[in-house]
Amino acid sequence: NKLHPLNPSWEKELKTVTVLNSVGDEVEVELKAFAAYSRLKADLEANDRIFIELDSARRTVAAQQAIMKSFTEKYGADYAAKTVAEPGCSEHHTGLALDLYFRIQRADGSFADVYHNEDMEKAEYRHIWNAIHAKLAAYGFILRYLPGKEHITGYRYEPWHIRYLDSPDIAGQIMPGLTLEEYLTGREAPELVIVLRFSDIYSEADLHEAVLAVKCRFAALAGCELRAVHYAGDRERGKEIPDRLNALGSGKYSAVMELLTDFQTADGAIDPFEPNRMYTDFPWLLGRLSDGGWEVVSIGDG
Ligand code: DAL
Ligand code: ZN
Repeated sequence: NKLHPLNPSWEKELKTVTVLNSVGDEVEVELKAFAAYSRLKADLEANDRIFIELDSARRTVAAQQAIMKSFTEKYGADYAAKTVAEPGCSEHHTGLALDLYFRIQRADGSFADVYHNEDMEKAEYRHIWNAIHAKLAAYGFILRYLPGKEHITGYRYEPWHIRYLDSPDIAGQIMPGLTLEEYLTGREAPELVIVLRFSDIYSEADLHEAVLAVKCRFAALAGCELRAVHYAGDRERGKEIPDRLNALGSGKYSAVMELLTDFQTADGAIDPFEPNRMYTDFPWLLGRLSDGGWEVVSIGDG
């Protein structure tokens, strides 16, 4: 993850298989993960009439770089930062992370691929993902990027990204709503409180996207645990900030926002934070990009 890049020597141990998916792309997968995926796929086809496919599994650092570039061009830098791991920090390098897509059977029996992120995220397919997710643990997989836990995983919810753990038992302990990070530290993170008050300056969607940007970035702050994110309100904060922030962003941002965070630090907290301290109302400055996404401009007042 963002705090634990892959040790490059690990790749020497990797045993993979390369397969062809329904759109004709070659996908490289770790051997045991592929065997488990094949059993999951057969189960879903036979019992649920759901037809999953592999979009992407093992990716080299160079391939991850190419994805970062194409996502930035297609969806904007903000979406890419919340969806694509920095090259070297993607669990796709291991071949144990699988991105799924699925095929829908038409009335005439032919198949249509539901392949693009924006299509797979549609509400009409939620029941398909629910059925897939319900069977993951039995085959040793977990859903890796959960909605609401972006401050722990560092990424936006991805219904398609599953991670092979080679243990149905451990997967079964994680799947009811834990992240892999929480499982590995042996402790469920405390509930995150989000307070968004009515604003004349920002839409509700703006506030939600800005909070998401804070959460995804927060996961990279070692030794810090996010407890609350709140918008202080237009009167308290909003008015005095735009000039200062616009000067910082030198016109790059169409709007600026400040969000306040409460977080607890532990031993070895990342610089400049002191260890074992509760920070309250700690400001984050955000700017809205031309594509509508929000990015973190600075953490703290500096
Ligand atoms: N989409 C996940 C975070 C990755 O790029 O590894
Ligand atoms: Zn993925």
